[in-house]
Amino acid sequence: MNTRFGILGTGSIVGKYAQACRLLPGLELVAIASRDAARARAAAAKFEIPCAHAGYESLLADTGVDAVIIALHNGLHCEWTCRALAAGKHVLCEKPLACNAGEVAQMFAAAQTHHRWLMEAFMYRFHPQMPEILRRMRAGEIGRVLHINSHRMSQGREASNMRYQRDAGGGALLDIGCYCVSLAQAVTGAEPIRVQANAHFDPATGVDLTLTGMLVFPEDVTANFCCSFESEPSYGAEIVGTTGRILIPNPWMPPVWPSDFTIVRAGKSEIIRMTPPEVPAHILAPFALELTHFAECIRQDRAPVFPPGDNAECDSLGIARTLDSVIAAARFG
Ligand SMILES: NC(=O)c1ccc[n+]([C@@H]2O[C@H](COP(=O)([O-])OP(=O)(O)OC[C@H]3O[C@@H](n4cnc5c(N)ncnc54)[C@H](OP(=O)(O)O)[C@@H]3O)[C@@H](O)[C@H]2O)c1
Repeated sequence: MNTRFGILGTGSIVGKYAQACRLLPGLELVAIASRDAARARAAAAKFEIPCAHAGYESLLADTGVDAVIIALHNGLHCEWTCRALAAGKHVLCEKPLACNAGEVAQMFAAAQTHHRWLMEAFMYRFHPQMPEILRRMRAGEIGRVLHINSHRMSQGREASNMRYQRDAGGGALLDIGCYCVSLAQAVTGAEPIRVQANAHFDPATGVDLTLTGMLVFPEDVTANFCCSFESEPSYGAEIVGTTGRILIPNPWMPPVWPSDFTIVRAGKSEIIRMTPPEVPAHILAPFALELTHFAECIRQDRAPVFPPGDNAECDSLGIARTLDSVIAAARFG
């Protein structure tokens, strides 16, 4: 039986989910909701979604929807996730799961109360490159991990974007720095025991426009990262070990195919090009893999996991706790 998704919000991300559902067996995007009826109808027509709802509540009452994708701005994630869970829907909520760890805990408590699954939509973790990098690292290919470096920088959003509103969960750390924190915690399998951070805050809105953080993990493993809304677009990551390094040019949005990363050992570089399995390329797209995984969890009634096997709840709560500490360190020292 197909898993029938509904989506709240009409932002840019809708097209990715609509494409994945259109191309994959077993998945359907059956409904979309907007605060504005005309916007819902326009998005439904554009993305070939059968049902347009005026208002989010109306979609939650739709008995033809099994699971809801929360594609609203960060400040609405907690409220609408909890309402969707209470309405009996499973929830795939866009990253960051919420504005702080308190909200994340509340959301997982609601999932438990209503016996529904909740997963944070960190799609980059589902691209085959990330499990392969973690597998090689854990197999000791770069020795003992010492340090992780990563960055994600962008610019050019209009001033009215919710990313510039502090009470809507705006700021570079929550929007894109969350990727860097997620990677560092996936690599170390731990939460940091100490954080330091510095940020350039927008004097008008109070949101962090550029933030640099340092995380110290158990056994003195460290991670540095930088995220920005005011820089020339740039991204990348590096995992440094005692006997080698892994360079990841496209950690967050790897091309579906081909995607490369490099392992450097004793000054020699080996480029690892992911060999496509015998499946069509669109099935390898991170959004498609993420949706497929979540739909399987719903069908088989098992907890979603982040590859290669961390429990999604621990992972998302841990990331949120670190994000709280980092922004506090940047604001208050
Ligand atoms: N995984 C990824 O690659 C990826 C990429 C981009 C974004 N995201 C995440 O997806 C989420 C949505 O991002 P986005 O760029 O689509 O955000 P956005 O355009 O700021 O907001 C998304 C939707 O929120 C709804 N909304 C409700 N109240 C609103 C208000 N007061 N002001 C403005 N919009 C309001 C709007 O839908 P209606 O007005 O139609 O109801 C809007 O389309 C964020 O959490 C973001 O981090 C993830």
